[in-house]
Amino acid sequence: MIGITKPQIQTLKLGQSDNSANMQSTRVNVLGIAGSMRKGSFSTHALKLVLEEAKRYGSDSRVLDLREVRLPIYDPSGSVSEELYREVNGNRENVLDTVTKDINWADAFVLATPDYHGSMSGAMKNFLDYFWEEFAGKTFGYIIASHEKGLTVADQMRTSVRQCYGWSMPYNISINGGNDFNSTGNPINSALANRIKMLARDLVTYGTLIRRQFLQDVMNKEVSDTYASRYREYYN
Ligand SMILES: Cc1cc2nc3c(=O)[nH]c(=O)nc-3n(C[C@H](O)[C@H](O)[C@H](O)COP(=O)(O)O)c2cc1C
Repeated sequence: MIGITKPQIQTLKLGQSDNSANMQSTRVNVLGIAGSMRKGSFSTHALKLVLEEAKRYGSDSRVLDLREVRLPIYDPSGSVSEELYREVNGNRENVLDTVTKDINWADAFVLATPDYHGSMSGAMKNFLDYFWEEFAGKTFGYIIASHEKGLTVADQMRTSVRQCYGWSMPYNISINGGNDFNSTGNPINSALANRIKMLARDLVTYGTLIRRQFLQDVMNKEVSDTYASRYREYYN
């Protein structure tokens, strides 16, 4: 990543091998990425439902809405574009700085995107291009608004995440636009309502286990035969 902020191991308590004993005392941080530029987006709406539900299982959650936080097209040369700056309450703010803090805060992610030509939105792909080590050892869930279930979209997001050594939930949530919600935004499709609860619960449960183990392995320099050992310098 070209961000400025280095992460700190602070979000999960470490050092206990008995995961069940430690489970009650931890709160996992879940960051939802809203990848639609459309006002009234179905994928963003479903994302907010999942994050709200995830709080019931002991998570803190935030949304990073790419419609509001506009990241310029990623430039690997690292040149700092004027487009990265915006005014917030009279202060000049570097958007990438703010986004990077959220990414480092997160232990798990939910990526929500519309299906565009069988793929994720350009905004979502551009967001993913900015980060890589930050995604390692974190768990990802997927939401796709599509008229065709969006399986190819989910596969492509999974590929990007795997490439960065992130872990993916083995299923997705797919929304078929207005067919799945009533006028007040509640799911009218019971299968979708169940899947929202399932993703929320699984993301918190599996996301906590994976993140905790990853951080333990990063910290434990005596263990060398783990992918986590590659991230010791990064987390140092
Ligand atoms: C440029 C573009 C390409 C699209 N391509 C597809 C597609 O390949 N398959 C599909 O089912 N829907 C496609 N759609 C429809 C959107 O995926 C659908 O309207 C979705 O619900 C929008 O999600 P949102 O409400 O979160 O923005 C496309 C829409 C646009 C604007």
